[in-house]
Amino acid sequence: MNFLGVAISKLIHLSVRCLLKLAEDLGAEPIWVFNAGISRNDQVDTTAIAPFVKDVLDSLEFARGSAKSTWGSVRAAMGHPERFPLKYVAVGNEDCDNTKPFYQGHYLKFYNAIRGAYPDIQIISNCDGSSEPLDHPADLYDFHIYNSANDLFLKKDTFSRTSRTGPKVFVSEYAVHVDGDTSKGSLQASLAEAAFLIGLEVNSDIVHMASYAPLFVNDNDRKWNPDAIVFNSWQQYGTPSYWMQTFFGESSGAVIHPVRLNSSYSGSLAASAITWQDNEDIFLRIKIVNFGPNAVNLTLSATGLEAGVNASRSAVTVLTSNDSLDENSFDDPLKVKPVKSGLPSAAEEMQAMLVPHSFTSFDLALDEYGELAADM
Ligand SMILES: *[C@@H]1O[C@H](CO)[C@@H](O)[C@H](O)[C@H]1NC(C)=O
Ligand SMILES: *[C@@H]1O[C@H](CO)[C@@H](O)[C@H](O)[C@H]1NC(C)=O
Ligand SMILES: *[C@@H]1O[C@H](CO)[C@@H](O)[C@H](O)[C@H]1NC(C)=O
Ligand SMILES: *[C@@H]1O[C@H](CO)[C@@H](O)[C@H](O)[C@H]1NC(C)=O
Repeated sequence: MNFLGVAISKLIHLSVRCLLKLAEDLGAEPIWVFNAGISRNDQVDTTAIAPFVKDVLDSLEFARGSAKSTWGSVRAAMGHPERFPLKYVAVGNEDCDNTKPFYQGHYLKFYNAIRGAYPDIQIISNCDGSSEPLDHPADLYDFHIYNSANDLFLKKDTFSRTSRTGPKVFVSEYAVHVDGDTSKGSLQASLAEAAFLIGLEVNSDIVHMASYAPLFVNDNDRKWNPDAIVFNSWQQYGTPSYWMQTFFGESSGAVIHPVRLNSSYSGSLAASAITWQDNEDIFLRIKIVNFGPNAVNLTLSATGLEAGVNASRSAVTVLTSNDSLDENSFDDPLKVKPVKSGLPSAAEEMQAMLVPHSFTSFDLALDEYGELAADM
């Protein structure tokens, strides 16, 4: 899975050139979400969609066409003769519902035109394929979720139950958000989101990408709470949700291992295990959310390791705080942050304590790589 959200959230409102340049500067892959002839209050009939389709094809030529093509030459004149590696487009945003009867007709026009001109571009549908298969072709479907912390935690297994055939999933907006709630991003919210992300990680055969929403907020112009990064004209901080996402930075390209949780507290825990490589070093990373108010003692037992655990290079990182409703702020920007320490007890079988309301990553350094499964 690509956790694009760590670097770049969905950028719906930026111009194509801005999006492409920002993604290039960040080293992120761009996803262009274009207007599908539907706005919040207005929509054109499918018989009138041709100019919108042409506009999208022209924009794709602007991004990917040769510097000699009509629109590629405009890009070159702007100082960027190289093509941008645009590989994903989304046809509209939140436009597949029964108040927007033209979406499916529009979608097929865009799909056929883009597939014909750029067969490698991955096309993302707004229709939700998680409960029943889509009735139209797509490479991915977009899934958005905003819930209370408790409800999002309970939805962590959403993609364990979905079809393994058909389009992959792009969870392009997920966050703890309740209308009317003025929380600007608490530890508790970040723990529910961590459990949900663990659910995406263990299902990354079907969930290919995820991005938190929204990424940035100007503290002087708040339109939506919570957000990952808060700024004003001279300072910034990450919310607990921002720090939570840093635990998943190595998940792209990692190998996922099955996890079995056996604890009387299993109902408030969520866990995943991956192996990932940092230069020559290989780590088994076991991430566990303890969503509840109790400290939980566990025996971590990794079976099938074909490698020794090197305790001196192993580490544990914990995101927690005294109060589950703690938030960061300009006055106390690092009140809730990950704290990393050595893990001298690291071993194939080890005792571990999860503090109340916490997200813990155990990084066990392995001396050589092997097949394994983690049991707890
Ligand atoms: C789960 O833990 C209990 C209590 O420690 C133990 O008796 C049981 O065998 C364990 N089950 C599995 C499947 O490991
Ligand atoms: C967990 O283990 C620690 C250290 O072994 C012990 O002090 C503590 O009482 C245990 N807590 C629970 C809830 O069992
Ligand atoms: C563990 O890693 C350290 C640091 O790289 C190394 O010096 C030590 O030899 C390793 N221990 C074992 C048992 O491989
Ligand atoms: C938690 O409480 C202790 C004791 O009151 C205090 O020293 C510490 O700074 C608090 N930590 C956080 C993250 O608020």
